[in-house]
Amino acid sequence: MQEETKKEKLPLKIRRANAADAEVLARIGWQSFDEAFADHPANHPDDMRVYMNEAFSVRAIESDLAEAKTVYLIAEIDGEAAGYAKIKFDSREDCIAGEKTIELCRLYALDKFIGKGVGKNLMLKFFELAAENHRETAWLGVWEFNYRAQEFYRKFGFEKCGEHVFQLGSDPQTDWVMQRKI
Ligand SMILES: CC(C)(COP(=O)(O)OP(=O)(O)OC[C@H]1O[C@@H](n2cnc3c(N)ncnc32)[C@H](O)[C@@H]1OP(=O)(O)O)[C@@H](O)C(=O)NCCC(=O)NCCS
Repeated sequence: MQEETKKEKLPLKIRRANAADAEVLARIGWQSFDEAFADHPANHPDDMRVYMNEAFSVRAIESDLAEAKTVYLIAEIDGEAAGYAKIKFDSREDCIAGEKTIELCRLYALDKFIGKGVGKNLMLKFFELAAENHRETAWLGVWEFNYRAQEFYRKFGFEKCGEHVFQLGSDPQTDWVMQRKI
């Protein structure tokens, strides 16, 4: 009985976002970024604000959603938005192998849903999209101090191949670039 409770799965659905999802994506984008990084001593609140006001504005998400090469996936648990992924086709950096690429630009679960399969299911859907679209290489950037996400990505086969700058407001931060074959 106890075992059954432990294994109980919340209904989790992954769906592709459309233009009507801009507001929900802006909201969970803002909240999940804040939950993940606001408390880190390396991040100045002013830099966080500058970055987040731009990156998670409804206007910015709407413009992403209108781009042919950008896809957002939304994870819903019991009908509630629990996390999302932003994906881009054909972007690449020097250390990325192959020409047919797919980038996992953002992968976030809201704090209260962390550890409930949101990240894994978004990642599996990302790999599905990659395979369907005959991609050779999947890649991503992850903050040098985001050890939890680095571990998570290693678990899914990504390996570090380089670094790039991630501009958080006035702060040029270092991201690891990680890739894996599809
Ligand atoms: C990184 C993140 C997306 C992972 O998503 P998640 O929903 O918490 O992970 P899941 O519940 O889907 O875990 C899936 C599997 O990975 C494992 N896992 C989760 N986090 C892990 C970690 N840090 N290291 C190793 N394994 C991990 C789980 O045990 C699970 O394994 P199982 O299927 O064998 O049981 C999530 O922690 C998150 O949103 N963090 C904050 C935002 C962030 O840092 N995003 C990345 C920015 S680059």
